[in-house]
Amino acid sequence: MKRNNQESPSVIGHAIVSSNFCIADSQGNMPESLKSETDWNMFQSDLDNSDLIILGRKSFEKYSAPKRFKLVPTSSLSGYLKEEDLIFFNPKDISIRKILTTLDFFPKKIAIAGGRLVYELVFKDFFYTEFHLSIKLNFVMPNGVPILNGVENITQFTQRMTECKMVRTQNIVLDKDTIQVRFQSV
Ligand SMILES: NC(=O)c1ccc[n+]([C@@H]2O[C@H](COP(=O)([O-])OP(=O)(O)OC[C@H]3O[C@@H](n4cnc5c(N)ncnc54)[C@H](OP(=O)(O)O)[C@@H]3O)[C@@H](O)[C@H]2O)c1
Repeated sequence: MKRNNQESPSVIGHAIVSSNFCIADSQGNMPESLKSETDWNMFQSDLDNSDLIILGRKSFEKYSAPKRFKLVPTSSLSGYLKEEDLIFFNPKDISIRKILTTLDFFPKKIAIAGGRLVYELVFKDFFYTEFHLSIKLNFVMPNGVPILNGVENITQFTQRMTECKMVRTQNIVLDKDTIQVRFQSV
C-alpha cells in the first residue's frame, strides 16, 4: 500500500478535545460537556462514508458502531481474530498494513476514532492523510486523558503534526463553544 498515489487510502483522524487537549475525563469517561452536536453530526457522517474504522477496545465496547467495518487493537489476544464485520488484532504481533491485506476489499477511506493509544499507534505504525480536531474552547478537564502523550495545547499538537509532515489547512467554527482545526498531509 503506497502513500500519495491512487492505491493509497485516505486516513482521517477524528477527535474532540477540551481546552487542555483531553479526550476523556480523569475517570476515562467522555462527559456531555465535551460534546458538540455539530461535531457529532459531522463525525457520524464521515464514519458513514468510511470503509473502515479503527478504534480502541474500550471505545469499541462503548460505541458498537453497527454496520461499520472495524479494526480494534487489543493486547488480550495473539495475532488477530476476524469476525463478520470486525477484526481484533494485537499491534505487537501484526501491523495495520498487514491486517489490511487480509481484507477482501480495499478500504479507500479509513476513519481513526481514537482513543489516545490508537491515535499514537496510527502515527507510529501507519499514517494520516488528514486530522479533524474539534476543540471545546471553554471546557477544561483536569487530569484527563490527553489526546496524545505529552500534548496539552494547540502548539504541542501542531508540533506533532509537523513532525508527521502535516500542515494546518482550515479553522471551522462549529458552534459558539467549538472550533474544528483541520490538518492535511503534504
Ligand atoms: N473525545 C474524543 O474524541 C474521544 C475519542 C475516542 C475515545 N474517547 C473516549 O475516551 C475514553 C477511552 O479512551 P482510551 O484512550 O482510554 O481507550 P481506547 O483507545 O478506546 O481503548 C484503549 C484500549 O484499546 C486497546 N489498544 C489501543 N491501542 C493499542 C495498542 N497499540 N496495542 C494494544 N492494545 C491497544 C487496549 O485494549 P486492551 O485493554 O484490550 O489491551 C487499550 O486498553 C472513552 O471514554 C471514550 O469515549 C474520546
